[in-house]
Amino acid sequence: MPDVDEIKEAKKFYSDIPQKTEGFFLKGSNSLDWGIKNRLARIFNPESGRTVMLAIDHGYFQGPTTGLERIDINILPLVPYADTLMLTRGILRSIVPPTTTKSIVLRVSGGTSILKELSNEDIAVDIEESIRLNVCAMAVQVFIGGEHERESIKNMTTMVDMGMRYGIPTLAVTAVGKDMNRDARYFRLAARICAELGAHYIKTYYIEKGFETVTSSCPIPVVMAGGKKIPELDALTMAYNAVQQGASGVDMGRNIFQSESPIAMIQAVRAVVHDNETPEKAFDFYNTIKNQL
Ligand code: R5P
Repeated sequence: MPDVDEIKEAKKFYSDIPQKTEGFFLKGSNSLDWGIKNRLARIFNPESGRTVMLAIDHGYFQGPTTGLERIDINILPLVPYADTLMLTRGILRSIVPPTTTKSIVLRVSGGTSILKELSNEDIAVDIEESIRLNVCAMAVQVFIGGEHERESIKNMTTMVDMGMRYGIPTLAVTAVGKDMNRDARYFRLAARICAELGAHYIKTYYIEKGFETVTSSCPIPVVMAGGKKIPELDALTMAYNAVQQGASGVDMGRNIFQSESPIAMIQAVRAVVHDNETPEKAFDFYNTIKNQL
């Protein structure tokens, strides 16, 4: 308690200066509550409005993926260059030091492996775990057009409802079945359904034709998934095109951790995402860092 005898009379009211009311920097997110905005502002850089998420959650359905065999050795050195880590609670607890100040996006859906029908997922993590682990968002796979479309949408809306209770955003990850067309029409459909049903941001793949219609018809931020490993310059070009066509960043895995030089690649991706660097210049940057190591 302050000493009541010594209270000084308040006098600096600046009555001539109106209090600022700032809008929130992220698309479609202004009406969210303070806690959700604060968590989103730890995922998306408020200056660039974008994020470099490092996705290392692949083991949740495909086991020790190439590049992720030893997360302690191969991935921890990349953490300083990521804005956010997207991973499972198992890897978070067993390998990531709790001293990290990076934001965490926790994979909360799961339940099937590559040996079975992948769309048959359930919610695999309690909301209490997300609170306990101090995560900034929860990621749920949504299989629009998939065998278990309805259940996967329900998983997402359940997490949205629970997350809203505690101020934790939900990332809807649009998953494409093997037999489905990866085109603008599909991703517009998938992204819009997830946004309409309450997701706070969406992850989709990049497509050459019409990606800008996916971002413009989605009222909330879209981040680009990396997909299978392609040459570094091609991956940088894809990330560049995605952000120039309205993506609010990337959530890349294999194109970073399966690169010949993951530590150079993640820095080159940052240059494209946060500094609007061209793919060619970012590729030069990649080679310079790679050759210095
Ligand atoms: C997808 O379901 C996984 O959870 C990954 O997070 C996602 O595929 C992104 O990783 P990549 O860039 O390797 O596709």
